[in-house]
Amino acid sequence: MNALSQKISFHDFQPELESFREAVLKGLSRRQKQIAPKFFYDETGSKLFEAILEQPEYYIPNVERDLLQSYADEIGRLIEPGSILIEPGSGSCEKVQLLLESLLPSAYVPMDISREFLKQSACDLGQQFPWLTIYAACLDFTQQMILPQGIPQGRRVVFIPGSSLGNFDPLEVQHFLTGIHRLTGKGGGLLIGLDRKKEPSVLNAAYNDAAGITAEFNRNLLTRINNELDGHFDLDRFEHRAFYNDQRGRIEMHLVSREEQQVSISGQDFRFIKGETIHTENSYKYSPDEFMTLANAGGFKLLKLWSDDNHLFSIYFLVAV
Ligand code: AVI
Repeated sequence: MNALSQKISFHDFQPELESFREAVLKGLSRRQKQIAPKFFYDETGSKLFEAILEQPEYYIPNVERDLLQSYADEIGRLIEPGSILIEPGSGSCEKVQLLLESLLPSAYVPMDISREFLKQSACDLGQQFPWLTIYAACLDFTQQMILPQGIPQGRRVVFIPGSSLGNFDPLEVQHFLTGIHRLTGKGGGLLIGLDRKKEPSVLNAAYNDAAGITAEFNRNLLTRINNELDGHFDLDRFEHRAFYNDQRGRIEMHLVSREEQQVSISGQDFRFIKGETIHTENSYKYSPDEFMTLANAGGFKLLKLWSDDNHLFSIYFLVAV
């Protein structure tokens, strides 16, 4: 434990970082070549993601912000003051700021794998909310869901905004929900924002913004491989493709080889035929019924659901039973 200030402590659970090299060499050796979306987020990738959040076609941040702002007091009444608010993958701790004055938690536990970013975000948040006690936990929440020692007693509530659970397969989601249930115990809460199924043209536009930022974000993965793994991708020979897969209920992102080619990475050669793809991301979209089937199986029951008038996005407040 490391005290960053009187009210902010830092707890390093030393998450193991999966080797980028191993993941890329293994993923590109598969029949359907693939690289996990977590590797998008190097410094450039994180900046590009921030830029995606500003694109007019990518409606998620605005709709979710409006919902959190409109219903903060109601959410606060349901959760009640004095809770322990836990946010896996907290990043810049931006969304939680919309809730803190209404929720008045006795402690906030941001969890993130990125050590320095977590420290900085915790300190920034502490300056804005000097009354808030913060236990910053550096860990990989997909591998370990544990709380720092010394956390006060109180109802534990997990907060997952931004539809980030959409990037996991439904089976992984169920496994993750079971982990959250174990962490909160019975009576604990889960406040989660998730993107909904909708007209495919709206979804397709959101992942193919006119300014080409999502395309740049996707192709940056190849730049990252070139820079970090002695890769020899020619970016002009790959293009971004994102489309809604109706059968699987998800947006898929791929990098498509424009022609037949061979690419060397860390001294290993990979062949691509024309049109072959590297699958880089899934973003699942759930109707409330579909998500509740998963949540019920994970031991949660619905207390309240908020949606915008256009049914683009939903925020669920669930209770562990
Ligand atoms: C982080 N995650 C919820 C985003 C999504 O919508 O699935 C990632 C993203 N990929 C392309 N645009 C945004």
